[in-house]
Amino acid sequence: MSQYAGSTRAIDDLDRWIRGEFTELNTELEELYFADRAIADPDRPEVKALTDVLVRAGGALVANVAETRELPADEDTRYELLGMVGFYLGACRRHEVRADPEHYAALAVALSTSLGVAPRFASAHQHMHNRAVGGAFNTFTKLDSERIFLTYNGLAVMAYRRAAHALQSVPALGVSNPLATYHLTDAVAALQDVLTYSQKLAADLDPDRFFYNIRPYFKSYRVGSKEYRGANAGDFAAINVIDVLLGLCSPHDPFYQWVTTDKYPYVTPRDQQVLRSLVGTESLLCQLVRELEIGTPSVALRENAELLLAACQRHGAATVYHHQKLVIPFLQEPAAHAPEERQSDMTASGPPLDVVIASLARLRDLRAARNRPDLVTARSDLDRVRLLLADRREPTSWPETPESLEQTFFSCAPKRRRPKG
Ligand code: HEM
Repeated sequence: MSQYAGSTRAIDDLDRWIRGEFTELNTELEELYFADRAIADPDRPEVKALTDVLVRAGGALVANVAETRELPADEDTRYELLGMVGFYLGACRRHEVRADPEHYAALAVALSTSLGVAPRFASAHQHMHNRAVGGAFNTFTKLDSERIFLTYNGLAVMAYRRAAHALQSVPALGVSNPLATYHLTDAVAALQDVLTYSQKLAADLDPDRFFYNIRPYFKSYRVGSKEYRGANAGDFAAINVIDVLLGLCSPHDPFYQWVTTDKYPYVTPRDQQVLRSLVGTESLLCQLVRELEIGTPSVALRENAELLLAACQRHGAATVYHHQKLVIPFLQEPAAHAPEERQSDMTASGPPLDVVIASLARLRDLRAARNRPDLVTARSDLDRVRLLLADRREPTSWPETPESLEQTFFSCAPKRRRPKG
């Protein structure tokens, strides 16, 4: 019998429960809240009956795993187990009921220490380490809206990861290498996919369902004596790889340093290594300006430069879309109608909503290379590339505002390349 047979059995039981009764209880609770458009209602008798079952059944199963005092040897399995415990705690927090720390805290902290991550579930437990069984991946509920949200959000994350992977292959080849064209073309297509999946999400997701039944599972919660911030869709390294390699954000900008260091405990151990490597990364934009300044560009350099500009434009467009068509209609607008006593509880990261929105707007403007008097953006470097490509003719204007970027970009077909030669 394996050394870990006891914990394996207990983990399997917990896994089965999370995939079964857990989602059914949450779904029933969500339907009760939604009928009243209530964010939570812990004192209502029908709600209390269901949450009592959830707290007790989940607590007993987590305690069974904890009592074995064994952790799976494999890192991915430990990460998955942390996700299961986290799903249970995330649901308790969402329904505003208390799980007994005796049942879960030692296990969550042991897993977190062994992995070097926060002792809670993170976005990666939803879109990177979420093993489907019989076609069903882990969710909190059986609601169609949650499936839509996780699917398109997950696909957008995959597309960001594909773009990052493509861009990471370029430095070793150099921006004037004809082989780099392949990777840059892939990056542009992947960033286009991010926008397409975000558009599908905006079209298919019901704003009320998202606001009342999905978003509340991503809040901050306490493990032992410490509060850990909520799961944030941006908690993966690829987005920052893209920012830095494209030259739109700098790992030496204090604001951007805060953005990346804040997410360390909430990304996978592998993504932490990627984030760490960013500080020594030279952007492709810098390399490009240096090569273009040498003299008349080769056909490959010109083509790669145009692709890099297209990648920047698409990255900017996707972030503008995220802000204008997801954050504002799905969170900021419904939050404005929520009761006063709920206003302090609207964000995953914890600060008030207007603070989170202002910081997202700053990121948006960096990625869109917007001309903002209080911000150093990549705008002048991008204009310089355009000027060098245009044989020192006046550069065509870079869209000035997020809205004009949105209009210029979303309404036009991909730019035609210049004929070769
Ligand atoms: C209904 C849909 C969505 C809403 C309402 C939404 C809202 C938000 C909010 C409020 C934050 C800030 C979190 C905090 O600090 O508390 C955030 C961050 C983030 N979201 Fe979304 N989001 C949505 C979908 C998506 C999708 C589909 C993606 C694509 C992968 C995405 C990518 C990100 C990223 C990368 C961040 C981190 C900040 C950044 O680097 O820009 N979000 N989102």
